[in-house]
Amino acid sequence: MALYDTLGATYGLTRRPDPRIAARIHAALDSAADVINVGAGTGSYEPVQTVLAVEPSQIMLRQRAPGSAPAVCAVAERLPLRADAADAVMALLTVHHWTDLAAGVAELRRVARRRVVVLTWDQQVFREHFWLVRDYLPQAAAFDDTRAVPIDRLAALLGGAEQLPVLVPHDCTDGFGAAYWRRPHAYLDPKVRAGISMLAQTGEDVLAPGLAALADDLATRRWHNRYADLLALDTIDVGYRLLVADV
Ligand SMILES: C[S@@+](CC[C@H](N)C(=O)[O-])C[C@H]1O[C@@H](n2cnc3c(N)ncnc32)[C@H](O)[C@@H]1O
Repeated sequence: MALYDTLGATYGLTRRPDPRIAARIHAALDSAADVINVGAGTGSYEPVQTVLAVEPSQIMLRQRAPGSAPAVCAVAERLPLRADAADAVMALLTVHHWTDLAAGVAELRRVARRRVVVLTWDQQVFREHFWLVRDYLPQAAAFDDTRAVPIDRLAALLGGAEQLPVLVPHDCTDGFGAAYWRRPHAYLDPKVRAGISMLAQTGEDVLAPGLAALADDLATRRWHNRYADLLALDTIDVGYRLLVADV
């Protein structure tokens, strides 16, 4: 069974594509005539010219919207596709789940005629700049240390890549790890945590003391005093990066 057959049951509830992040991804695809989405999940961020989604979890595939691009159940490491199958291939918030990163990236490059676009995060920046993992849930950061993909390694596997910061809006609609950086109460909601693999995989027992401390700091408004500077920001850079490579 694929990991997201357990993690992904409520993905569609909290992980709605954010239009501002979509605009960045679509600009990076640079008017590709056709696009393949690898690690596609429920289909977030697929542009209209998407011709195929590749995704190993049936639970995720079942949440794809009616009318979205055709999808195949497969892994990045062995794409059931010919070389040069599409102008562009994208892989969004997925490479950290792959069992063989080098094989998966080699497959992206084989299948793309022109461009590969990968959305991931820089774990060092994330750890240092995201208050939740730095100050309340260091165990979640430690879990991410075990799976986060070093940006430089990824860029090297891509044969060189432009690295573009992706700022997270304060009202981001895609509930990934740092999406709620200015809405701290959200992290107390189990439905929100279920949509964030870093938290779901770290486990509720391990997170409990940090979440209790957060609840207490929110109730006493200690959180608001401590992070007053954040409340004045509309976007934040906590390490999300778009890697854009020409093949
Ligand atoms: C956080 S979700 C991201 C989904 C989608 N790209 C998005 O941006 O919403 C990660 C996805 O990667 C998929 N995945 C895990 N291992 C994979 C692999 N080896 N090859 C391709 N996809 C994989 C999971 O099943 C899951 O749907």
